[in-house]
Amino acid sequence: MNLHEHLASAEAAIQAVKTLGDLNELETKLLGRNSPVGEARRQLGKLDPGDRPAAGVEVNRVTAELNRLIAERRGELTRVEENLLLADDSVDVTVERWTLSQGTEHLVQQTIDEVCDIFIGLGYRVEQGPEAELAWFNFDALNTPPHHPSRFESDTLYLDFGDPADEVLLRTHTSPMQVRYMQSHKPPLYVVVPGKTFRSDTIDASHLPVFHQIEGLAVDSGIVFSDLKGTLAHFAREFFGREQRVRLRPSFFPFTEPSAELDVSCFVCGGASASCRLCGGSGWLEMAGCGMVDPNVLDMAGHDSQTLSGFAFGMGVERLAMVRHGISNIRVFIDNDLRALRQFR
Ligand code: PHE
Repeated sequence: MNLHEHLASAEAAIQAVKTLGDLNELETKLLGRNSPVGEARRQLGKLDPGDRPAAGVEVNRVTAELNRLIAERRGELTRVEENLLLADDSVDVTVERWTLSQGTEHLVQQTIDEVCDIFIGLGYRVEQGPEAELAWFNFDALNTPPHHPSRFESDTLYLDFGDPADEVLLRTHTSPMQVRYMQSHKPPLYVVVPGKTFRSDTIDASHLPVFHQIEGLAVDSGIVFSDLKGTLAHFAREFFGREQRVRLRPSFFPFTEPSAELDVSCFVCGGASASCRLCGGSGWLEMAGCGMVDPNVLDMAGHDSQTLSGFAFGMGVERLAMVRHGISNIRVFIDNDLRALRQFR
């Protein structure tokens, strides 16, 4: 083929190419060993010596021209491909594809905040304690001896079991923080401790293996039982409203003496129905364990039980929320059913 014609058709082919990949392929075809230019270069040696210089100049001219055309087209295609890439990558900020709906705090957290607020109003501090606790703080320091049934492996979730000196467990209540706080602070102490607690319970309408408590502790000089009663009565009025009645019922805990249970009048029947599904006819719902801090516990924590006294209480958070909002099944707190949870925005 005449190199002149070759150049003309090559120019059209270069312009027709649409991608850098195709251009690379075309380049080999136009300039490679087997291309017309390559062929012409090889033939140079066979020409009459007199014709060679002119033919050589022509081959070089066509080669240079092809290189120039290819380089020019490569520049154009590079820009085109870059633009395509940019267009592909760009985000249309006006398109609304999906939106996050606004969430709320879980009812458990809302309840904890509300209860803590009431006690903050009384001058209490809010603290947190470890969920994985030494058996010593969970039991021994709380006057609960090794043979006590709540220490059984079947009731308590142990992380480290066997050697009583360093058994570790998932705390069964928030009360170990009574001791930790007493050990690390000087009275007067007024503190509430919300947090998770764990028991080896099967889930049913009123039990969860993981639930929440709020511990309360007051240690000062001259604290008496009526201080406990007045404090819990104030709390109940603030949290449940004035129409709800409360009572303290004698009970037992190894670490308080005397001990009591705080009951709130049943919000379903108000004590009027012997067949009430919630209170079972008693008219009362159990809210918290409480009592005067046992002198042994004060001494164990390094305080003088002769000059100091105190009270403690532990409330079940889910239980408080159930009574307050009329929730009859504790599973609501873990089901993550938005229809239920949305009611408590
Ligand atoms: N820790 C007890 C429980 O979980 C409740 C309690 C706390 C009782 C503080 C008395 C004082 O049942």
